[in-house]
Amino acid sequence: MKKIQKLMERGCKILGSEYAILGGAMTWVSESNLVSAMCNNGIFGVLASGAMDGDLLKKEIEQTQAKTSKNFGVNLILANPKLQDLIDVCLEKKISHIILAGGIPDKSIMEKIHNGGAQVMSFAPSLAVAKRLFKQGLDSLILEGSEAGGHVGPVTTMILIQDILLNLPEYPIFVAGGILRGEVFASMLQLGALGCQLGTVFACCKESLAHPNFKKAFFRANGRNAVTPVQLDKKFPIAPVRALENIGTEEFIAKQREVLKKFENGEIALDNGRLSLEHFWAGALRRAVQEGDVERGSLMSGQIVEIIKEERSISEIVNTIMEEAERFLARNGL
Ligand SMILES: Cc1cc2nc3c(=O)[nH]c(=O)nc-3n(C[C@H](O)[C@H](O)[C@H](O)COP(=O)(O)O)c2cc1C
Repeated sequence: MKKIQKLMERGCKILGSEYAILGGAMTWVSESNLVSAMCNNGIFGVLASGAMDGDLLKKEIEQTQAKTSKNFGVNLILANPKLQDLIDVCLEKKISHIILAGGIPDKSIMEKIHNGGAQVMSFAPSLAVAKRLFKQGLDSLILEGSEAGGHVGPVTTMILIQDILLNLPEYPIFVAGGILRGEVFASMLQLGALGCQLGTVFACCKESLAHPNFKKAFFRANGRNAVTPVQLDKKFPIAPVRALENIGTEEFIAKQREVLKKFENGEIALDNGRLSLEHFWAGALRRAVQEGDVERGSLMSGQIVEIIKEERSISEIVNTIMEEAERFLARNGL
C-alpha cells in the first residue's frame, strides 16, 4: 500500500470516499454535476444549499443521487430560516454527512441529525469552541483558515493547526483553506489531520459549470487579488468574504462612504444603513458564477488562486496531489 493511502485511511473511512479530500461546498458552484463528478472521482463532494428551501434542496439531492451511487455531504447554513426543513430533507434522502456552516450549531440540532442517522460536521474558530462541539457530539470538525475563499474567520490555517489540531489529536479534524499541493496535503495528515477540504481549485475545474469568464478571472488572478472587503467604520460591520477584487469591490467602499455620510448627517438610521450594505452583494455570487459578471459579481476565491493557472479535471487535480504527496513522503523517508 502506498504511504499516502495509509495516511488517508482514517479520513477515508469517516467520509466513505477513496481519497481523504472533501470538495468543499460552494454556493451556486457545488451543484449536482460538480458534486457527483467529485464523488465519481473518489473524493467526498459536498452539495451547497445556500439560501435554498426544502423543495429545491430535495431536487438537487435527487439529481446528484441520480448521477452517482457514492455518498456525499450537504452543507447547510445555520442562519437559513428553513434550516429544520432542510435537515428533514437530508435525513429523508439518507444523506450520510450534514455540514453545518455559518455559525456554531447547538446541541439540539446535532441530536436531531444523529437521530436521523447522519453524521455532523462543522467549523470552529477557536480551541474552546472545538472542544465544546466535540463534547456535544460533533462527529468531525473542519478547520478553515482565513486564506480560504468565501466567508472566512479572522485566523489563518497555520494558526488553527497549532491552536486546535495539535491540541486535539484524539478528535477527527479536517483542514481547509489554502491547501492544494500534495506535499502540504501529506504534511497535514502527518500533523494529525484526517484529510483536507479544497474549494477554490474545484470552482474552476473542468467539471464545474461556472461561467468561463468566472474561471478565466481565477486563472489570471494572483493570491493578493483574493481579498476581504475593507470596513470603513465599526458601526457598519462588513461580512468578511474573500473574493477577487473587481469594480464591485471599489463600488462597495464608495457605498460605505455614502452610507456613513448619510448616517452622520442624520439622513439614515443605523439599521437601514447596515441593511443597505448587507444588500449590496445580494445575488452577486450567482451573477458571477452563472452570468459571468466578473466586474460587479462576487468572485469568491481563496488565496490559493495564486497557483491555479489552468482548467484541470478533478482526476488531474487529485492525481497530481497524490503523486506530489507520495514523492514528498518517499523523498523524506517518511
Ligand atoms: C465560490 C465559493 C463559494 C463558497 N461557498 C461556501 C458555502 O456556501 N458554504 C461553506 O461552508 N463554504 C463555502 N465556501 C468555502 C469552501 O467550501 C472551502 O471550505 C474553501 O474554499 C476551502 O479553501 P480554498 O478555497 O483555499 O481551497 C466557498 C468557497 C468558494 C471559493
